[in-house]
Amino acid sequence: MSEPVVRYHARPSGPLVGTVRAAGMTKNAGCKQLAAALLCPGTSTVGNLHPVADLEVMGELLRAIGADVTWVADDTLAVDASGPLVPEAPYELVSRMRASINVLGPLLARHGRARVAMPGGDNIGSRKLDLHVRGLQAMGVELEVAHGFIDAQVNALSGARIVLDFPSVGATETLLTTAVLAKGETVIDNAAREPEISDLAAFLVAMGARVEGAGTPTITVEGVTELHPADHAVIGDRIEGGTLCFAALVVGGDVTVAGITTAQLGVAADKLVDLGAVVESTLDGVRIRMDDRPRSTDVQTLPFPGFATDFMPFAVVALATADGTGIVTENVFDNRLAFTAELNRMGASVHTEGRHAVVRGARRLTGAPVRALDVRAGAALVLAGLVAEGETVVHDARHIDRGYPDLAGKLAALGADVARTST
Ligand code: EPU
Repeated sequence: MSEPVVRYHARPSGPLVGTVRAAGMTKNAGCKQLAAALLCPGTSTVGNLHPVADLEVMGELLRAIGADVTWVADDTLAVDASGPLVPEAPYELVSRMRASINVLGPLLARHGRARVAMPGGDNIGSRKLDLHVRGLQAMGVELEVAHGFIDAQVNALSGARIVLDFPSVGATETLLTTAVLAKGETVIDNAAREPEISDLAAFLVAMGARVEGAGTPTITVEGVTELHPADHAVIGDRIEGGTLCFAALVVGGDVTVAGITTAQLGVAADKLVDLGAVVESTLDGVRIRMDDRPRSTDVQTLPFPGFATDFMPFAVVALATADGTGIVTENVFDNRLAFTAELNRMGASVHTEGRHAVVRGARRLTGAPVRALDVRAGAALVLAGLVAEGETVVHDARHIDRGYPDLAGKLAALGADVARTST
């Protein structure tokens, strides 16, 4: 069966007004926690999940490995990893979703063996695995990369001191989910500090792991001999919530996004202010007010709490309609600025040179047919469509479905003229 053709249709809108709730962080936190459930026999549950395409792929992958995956409530998946498990992640699934690599650590820790297809590059850059590999080797794992697969095995995992060259989210997750069952202490230095790392650690601790320092640059893990199943609900999706904050900035209005905090937005909360918005913490969320054209500023992406690379496309869209010129530097992924060519089709003036983009604000954008290159770039083009004359049709919008359970519905609830179609 061929894949459905998904499109977003956006028209001039605004102001956006009202309150929306951020979904649970399904793609970047939930999927990884489901993989971590492989660490022990028995049934663990992960709650506050929302139906996004990547969740289906993770379900298929865990089933291919031999786990039983079932919905036990509207937003809760149970993973029964009693086994027997086949410690292999096939190419067909890994190539569809990079988070498939998150089964590597749990399978190694539990079985001493794992064979995982190499994910390869994708639309946002080359995305290497060297930091995962070097950290695992420090714990005694033997790895061979051949025929497009990582073959990893270990007799006895031993704790190690690992200093990451770069605070990689994926490498921190792999090493954390391996170290929990290693013998002795593992210290991960220069670890990623993203809130989803702390959330993964909270799930592991609920399973009986001994983890300290998650959310700081130094994570210490004291290995235990076995873990037990646990129940955990994932945190609110700060990236989805942040997307809605940027929507309010770009379109104008008064929007409260419940279920996230300004702290989870990191430097992006300050950048929203630099771009002209009034940003306030509320009891249960973040309120954004904007009644003018965005102001220009410079943005550089950095690991958390720096300005998230996932928000970069939204900042480019805001600057594309701002009063003045801003410079955007993408420091995390090597090809994430490629989407700006699509934005230029809408009349934006973005000139890229390697990791830098010079964005000259234009008074108006014009609706056009454009293409989503990745999940966040796709969402950014939808936001641009809300301030462009005429209709914008975002093609290849299945990318948006990978991470957003209902982007069109949430924007429409705030008054945006947007619809998602699937044929
Ligand atoms: N890197 C290496 N070697 C490694 C690992 C990473 O050189 O061994 C490089 C990557 O090539 C990249 C940079 O380090 O240039 C950052 O990679 P990181 O490992 O931190 O990111 P990730 O785990 O691949 C996750 C999210 C991304 C998010 C980044 C940064 C998931 C599934 N993906 O990717 O989310 O942008 O962390 O916060 O959680 C998105 O949601 O749209 C998205 C791309």
